Amino acid sequence: MIRYGILSTASIVPRFVAGIRESREGHVQAIASRTIEKAQEFAAQLEIENYYGSYQELFKDPNVDIVYVPTVNGFHYRDALAALMHGKHVVVEKPFALTRSQAVELFDLAKEKKLFLMETQKSVFLPVTRKVKELIDEGTIGDIKYAEFKAGFPGRFSYDHWMYDLSLGGGALYGSATYTIEYIQYLFDRPQLKIDGTGIKCPTGADEICNFQLVVNDSALVSSTIAMNVPLNNEAVFYGEKGQIRVPNYWKSCQLELTMYDGTSTHFDFPFDSEFVYEIDHINDCLNKHLIQSDVMTAARTIETIELVASLYKKWNGM
Ligand SMILES: NC(=O)c1ccc[n+]([C@@H]2O[C@H](COP(=O)([O-])OP(=O)(O)OC[C@H]3O[C@@H](n4cnc5c(N)ncnc54)[C@H](OP(=O)(O)O)[C@@H]3O)[C@@H](O)[C@H]2O)c1
Repeated sequence: MIRYGILSTASIVPRFVAGIRESREGHVQAIASRTIEKAQEFAAQLEIENYYGSYQELFKDPNVDIVYVPTVNGFHYRDALAALMHGKHVVVEKPFALTRSQAVELFDLAKEKKLFLMETQKSVFLPVTRKVKELIDEGTIGDIKYAEFKAGFPGRFSYDHWMYDLSLGGGALYGSATYTIEYIQYLFDRPQLKIDGTGIKCPTGADEICNFQLVVNDSALVSSTIAMNVPLNNEAVFYGEKGQIRVPNYWKSCQLELTMYDGTSTHFDFPFDSEFVYEIDHINDCLNKHLIQSDVMTAARTIETIELVASLYKKWNGM
């Protein structure tokens, strides 16, 4: 069994825990929070036997093989660094880090210590995403000329939440750009990417709605809109020369619609309980093979994503 230590009581934790439990070899060993009360409450709710009132105690637990880091975006670097320094394998929620130098330092440290390190990106492990890639690679819809990604999640956070604090990695782009960029990296196998875009700031200074464009291999255009202030039709649509593929809720989808321009259409279903299970099975396989990096969510992909996102924030804010 691969024994997971869960760092924090973040709202994403119950879904990740469900994925570990559905995976072939994952076991939820322990959870830690900044306070013992919250740790105890979550441990009871999620039926986790061991809990700690500080992150340090989890890092020191000899029965934890791998630490899952779903803390505030701006603390991913700090928390992953601490876990690696304690000799733990680590998986870090998106965005992996806020700067290229943070990411490079973490991957270098993991290499030096022979520890596994990966950014979690469940969307690229989903059967539906693999089907999209297969359809594109087989030429079913011809060459892709345009793709559009939309994600809107209004009302989830108030302005005093860290998701609206840019210094903590809040903002629409930090929050969700990785889904689009890493999806495209996966579909096109090491594509050359150029980015541009714009955003509208809310009173806290964070972008609450943004749109960015990727030029892929100088031959396809991708447009991605992320909104924290308005609902959107959450979907990705890939437009080829012969047809199009529509994936609703592309970051956690179990279905897609293939529509050819001759009027025929086919629906594909890939039912699952937890959308995290595929990613967690992959992590477990990597650990069983004693790998220190995933061959899907590679360091190179993560670092390129951080560079692209950071270049836009630099353009918007000069930071
Ligand atoms: N893969 C996905 O599908 C997915 C979906 C949503 C979010 N995410 C990612 O998961 C991470 C967590 O997102 P979330 O929305 O679940 O976050 P959240 O509910 O706000 O939780 C963040 C956790 O960080 C800990 N924390 C440490 N220092 C903190 C501070 N100074 N202020 C506030 N919290 C602090 C807290 O845990 P304790 O109090 O227990 O220490 C808190 O529960 C983010 O990186 C996000 O991008 C991934």
